[in-house]
Amino acid sequence: MAELDIRKISSFDLPELRPYATMKRPLEHETQGIFVAEGVKVVRRLLESHFAVASVVLPEKWVETFRPLIEARPEPITVYLAEKKFLEGLVGFSMFQGVLAVGKIPPPSSLDEVLRKSPKPRLFAAVDALTNAENLGALVRNCVAFGVQALIVGETSSSPFLRRAVRNSMGTILQLPVLELNLRRGELRESQTFPGKSGTRVTRPAETLAQTLRELHARGVCCIAAHPHTNKKTLSQADFTGDCCLAFGSEGHGVSASVLEACDEAVAIPMPPTVDSLNVGAAAAVFLYEVARQRGKMG
Ligand SMILES: C[S@@+](CC[C@H](N)C(=O)[O-])C[C@H]1O[C@@H](n2cnc3c(N)ncnc32)[C@H](O)[C@@H]1O
Repeated sequence: MAELDIRKISSFDLPELRPYATMKRPLEHETQGIFVAEGVKVVRRLLESHFAVASVVLPEKWVETFRPLIEARPEPITVYLAEKKFLEGLVGFSMFQGVLAVGKIPPPSSLDEVLRKSPKPRLFAAVDALTNAENLGALVRNCVAFGVQALIVGETSSSPFLRRAVRNSMGTILQLPVLELNLRRGELRESQTFPGKSGTRVTRPAETLAQTLRELHARGVCCIAAHPHTNKKTLSQADFTGDCCLAFGSEGHGVSASVLEACDEAVAIPMPPTVDSLNVGAAAAVFLYEVARQRGKMG
């Protein structure tokens, strides 16, 4: 077994360390098809996943914890050593453990592939213009916890691979196939190679969420908008036993008119008149619990 390649650093000057120096510029990472994993649990999940890993940065005391995972990886990974305080100075914000890694977002696939790989009854989630990375991460975590088979990210939504989204998902984004309609980096990503990786990230950059939902409908998937302002159907009246895709709206505007129109129906979690709505992550958990309950998965 090869010795770990461990190097002490005193700056992020090396080109391969640039992603750590630009953590506050997430769009730069997105265009490059990479993401930063932060914290012991998330970095551990990344190293255990099939995602390609470019590098790891950590304080010396964590080396032995991560050694077996890094040594088990198929690709060579350089481990850069830096103490937490020093790292915080370099990245410009405080961190809990000072453990970071850069992963590579897998190459795009297709809606066909998502459908082929998802056994019935299918369960998908979609986000419409969801821009808050923390909320997106929480929603992803709920999706994985309740067996969602793929997440469809609308063309105006943030990427679930933003650092804060990855962190809030607790790394569960690495288990969830993602169909991104919001790619600002199609050409760049096409030219990237990920040796030996069969990624689960999928994209159809030319399509809107409304078009994708109509296509799902044409293929027998019932598209249901989670919409606090409908009085037509409440959660317990909806039928989630067949193939379905749940569409969630943005923090400010909710589900857009075009997405509402593309959905088969809109369903509300009943709320008292004094409360406008739930946080989108909380709403997703409530909907997904009901799906699981109706499908006999809650004991
Ligand atoms: C913070 S809410 C959006 C609030 C927005 N001001 C509105 O008027 O719709 C974000 C998303 O969470 C979901 N959501 C929140 N509360 C809900 C409820 N009571 N019933 C159904 N969906 C809900 C919806 O998908 C909603 O678009």
